[in-house]
Amino acid sequence: MDKVKIGLLGAGAWGRNLARNFATLPGCELAAVSDAEPKRAGVVAELAPGARFSPRADEIFNDSSIQAVVISTPPATHYELGKKALQAGKDLFVEKPLVLDVAQGEELVRLAEEQKRILMVGHIMVYHPATLKLKDYIRRGEFGEVYYLYASRVNLGKVRDIENALWSFAPHDISMVLFFLEKLPVQVTATGRAYLQPGIEDVCFLTMHFDTGQMAHIHVSWLDPHKDRKVTIVGSKKMAVFDDSASSEKIWIYDKGVNTNPDYTTYGEYLALRTGDILIPKVESKEPLSLECQHFIDCVRERKSPRSDGRSGLDVLKVLEAAQRSLKAGGTPQRLAT
Ligand SMILES: NC(=O)c1ccc[n+]([C@@H]2O[C@H](COP(=O)([O-])OP(=O)(O)OC[C@H]3O[C@@H](n4cnc5c(N)ncnc54)[C@H](O)[C@@H]3O)[C@@H](O)[C@H]2O)c1
Repeated sequence: MDKVKIGLLGAGAWGRNLARNFATLPGCELAAVSDAEPKRAGVVAELAPGARFSPRADEIFNDSSIQAVVISTPPATHYELGKKALQAGKDLFVEKPLVLDVAQGEELVRLAEEQKRILMVGHIMVYHPATLKLKDYIRRGEFGEVYYLYASRVNLGKVRDIENALWSFAPHDISMVLFFLEKLPVQVTATGRAYLQPGIEDVCFLTMHFDTGQMAHIHVSWLDPHKDRKVTIVGSKKMAVFDDSASSEKIWIYDKGVNTNPDYTTYGEYLALRTGDILIPKVESKEPLSLECQHFIDCVRERKSPRSDGRSGLDVLKVLEAAQRSLKAGGTPQRLAT
């Protein structure tokens, strides 16, 4: 089978990681890279010596030998560039978030379906080996009924000047929660504050409520003393912590819970705490981005729908949009757009 010829748009902080992967993975050829900043040519020549560079994205859209386009430009440009790529008949991998507006996201999904093109969104956490391990535990009922989850993604890091911490960081955790629970929340609340730049929230606390009574809470910030990337899952049988900042032993499973005793005589006997063993399962130590890029190549070659397809990107967008409405309304609960 021929190698998939890829064109990459955007060779900024993240795009260069994509360039490194697509330049080295088997089954594809990174044929061209475009960045609006001509000075990015140097880094592209270093990471992908075989790729030609152009500051004009149209050169990639007009090149009929390029089958797939990867977009890693600022989110505000995803819609226009994504639409052009699909209209030019390319398969498409768009970094998260898919776009900044649900209606625009729906248009891209519709366009991809009409054109029978692959549309994948860069929700990297659903390719993380630890996420897949946890998903397998959930599917097998190992944790019992999942009651609630909470995640934090905080550090003292790159301050964005267009999208806030919610749009910049929370897509990772929202995509993970939706992947685990396999449903959309019915209601979302979000509060946050802009301390460094007017109107761009540096910190956000988001809570998703599901019709099953399940709950997921997400804390995101680039203004925090700790680098913390953690997810805790609390189930009726077991509990788990996934610490993505840890270099190894990323998942800890606690055989802890509260058992109810139907034959109780006193209240103390009714609810009995249970503290059992802790299991630290082996997690494959492959780079999630490499697995994600390989998945895109496989989907293009085999014409199969990606794990993080356009519709799942749209679901994440619906949560983000409701959270943004709640944020602007001072934390008032918001229902998701249907
Ligand atoms: N998956 C992840 O973990 C992860 C991490 C960081 C960023 N991202 C995503 O990657 C994307 C890029 O983020 P970044 O941090 O690299 O941003 P960045 O600002 O560092 O880089 C963006 C690049 O796009 C270029 N650009 C802008 N408009 C362009 C156009 N029309 N055509 C070609 N190039 C254009 C800019 O010159 C710049 O070099 C965003 O969508 C972001 O959310 C994903």
